[in-house]
Amino acid sequence: MLQLLLLLLTSNLGLAATSRPGVVLILADDLGYGDPGCFGHPSSQTPNLDWLAAEGRRFSDFYSAASVCSPSRAALLTGRYPSRSGIYPGVFYPASKGGLPLNETTIAELLKQQGYQTAMVGKWHLGYGLNGSYLPIHQGFDKFLGIPYSHDQGPCQNLTCFPPDTKCFGECDQGVVLLPVFKNDKIIQQPVHFTKLTPMYDNFARHFILKAAKKQKPFFLYYASHHTHYPQFASTDFAGKSKRGPLGDALMEFDASVGVILNALRKAGVENNTLVFFTSDNGPELRRQIRGGNAGLLRCGKGTTYDGGMREPAIAYWPGRITPGVTHELASTLDILPTVASISGAKLPQVKLDGYDMSDILFNNGKSKRETMFYYPVARSKELGVFAVRYGKYKAHYYTEGSILSDTSPDESCHWTAPVMRHIPPLLFDLEADPSENYILSCYELPTFASIIEQIQNETVKFESGMEFGESQMERGLDPELEPCIKPGCEPRPQCCQQT
Ligand SMILES: *[C@@H]1O[C@H](CO)[C@@H](O)[C@H](O)[C@H]1NC(C)=O
Ligand SMILES: *[C@@H]1O[C@H](CO)[C@@H](O)[C@H](O)[C@H]1NC(C)=O
Ligand SMILES: *[C@@H]1O[C@H](CO)[C@@H](O)[C@H](O)[C@H]1NC(C)=O
Ligand SMILES: *[C@@H]1O[C@H](CO)[C@@H](O)[C@H](O)[C@H]1NC(C)=O
Ligand SMILES: *[C@@H]1O[C@H](CO)[C@@H](O)[C@H](O)[C@H]1NC(C)=O
Repeated sequence: MLQLLLLLLTSNLGLAATSRPGVVLILADDLGYGDPGCFGHPSSQTPNLDWLAAEGRRFSDFYSAASVCSPSRAALLTGRYPSRSGIYPGVFYPASKGGLPLNETTIAELLKQQGYQTAMVGKWHLGYGLNGSYLPIHQGFDKFLGIPYSHDQGPCQNLTCFPPDTKCFGECDQGVVLLPVFKNDKIIQQPVHFTKLTPMYDNFARHFILKAAKKQKPFFLYYASHHTHYPQFASTDFAGKSKRGPLGDALMEFDASVGVILNALRKAGVENNTLVFFTSDNGPELRRQIRGGNAGLLRCGKGTTYDGGMREPAIAYWPGRITPGVTHELASTLDILPTVASISGAKLPQVKLDGYDMSDILFNNGKSKRETMFYYPVARSKELGVFAVRYGKYKAHYYTEGSILSDTSPDESCHWTAPVMRHIPPLLFDLEADPSENYILSCYELPTFASIIEQIQNETVKFESGMEFGESQMERGLDPELEPCIKPGCEPRPQCCQQT
């Protein structure tokens, strides 16, 4: 009896807030499936990602839920297809009135209920809105340091991207305010100093981890890097240092941030009690050519529903809990919220979730609970519905379409000139035998063809009958007055919105 009591007591202690695992989510921007060294790139220098891959679980079949930033990030943080939260069509702009609805439950909100300290650093891109009402601090993050949208969404022709004074390549978006850097809801820089940005982020991340560990508090860090999105930039230690030009330098700086985080976890003594998860938001922006990322052997890139647009490099790392290896199980950014809920003991939000707990894949080298992945286009609509479906090893395309974001790549079906095309029957590929989606399977070569198509059709009907599109946040429109300005009320906007 006494023994039982002791057992109960200690197991209760085991669940105390201090022992709850840390969670670090590292997101790269527009980094392709073929970009990290550990995913086969011959000249990228990514020693820290390679370490994570060697010591953790590398995913070969991991998907984001959208092929562009805002919807992909919404899905990552909510575990729901972005159609539900209304993050379509396209992405948010500095003047967007909309944002990720505040009644959506993010991973940060989930973990805060479990006593976690939460922080986000880097690129948000889930809305700014009236007086910053959609900033991360209103979505469960205690602290935020970063830019609330993409770092090409402000004029960049006069900004230095590489030291000592190499200006950014191209002009980025014109006619909007210069890029702001926020600390919580206050602008601390406008315009951003690109060459000092990552060291500032890394310091913030390091301090956040060390402080939380010192207080014996569980913590959640969401490190959403701007790398390797256009325009590429880097600080002194990385400028001109890679074998891959500006993109390689940016990737090297990103990789070094991974190292900074790992070192902080070690120094704080919490490395063995922390899940580190790395992935990317969507495929590479192929139209940037030599300055864009690489989808490896996958077809097309950003903006498309070919695998190059949505299949991502991903690694989970937790020494002592996750045994090193590669998993070929199907998984998605949608699955991170349920997995984090499971390891932290948090209750799942009472909404329709699209994710599955990945614990079996991570900790038991087991099977995925996920059987399907649905691919929506950038301009998703209830009318057209899903463009493609992954079901086991098969993928069926009901529609295909190119994208400006994947323009100029060798395959013309990736380009913006490739219009929306409906396929009856759907184009069927075997992604295990043919990950590049090169060879369409037909009823003549595959005796089970009709049955596979029917199963996929059944899954799609079931999925779509449960899919409710939220009101489009993008269609709420733009109001230039909402753009963040370090000198509120100044004239003439947007030029006056800068530090003097
Ligand atoms: C959030 O509120 C909107 C508007 O009332 C509603 O349509 C939507 O279903 C709510 N979403 C969630 C996740 O509760
Ligand atoms: C904007 O937000 C700040 C900080 O949250 C607050 O102090 C201020 O009153 C708000 N201004 C308006 C116009 O709502
Ligand atoms: C860039 O610098 C030029 C030359 O000083 C100036 O005329 C122009 O207004 C600047 N553009 C922006 C967007 O700051
Ligand atoms: C962390 O876990 C690894 C692998 O189980 C082990 O080798 C190492 O000693 C542990 N480190 C600490 C500080 O407990
Ligand atoms: C598809 O659904 C129909 C209707 O529910 C059912 O009769 C059929 O057996 C299903 N087909 C497959 C291959 O599962």
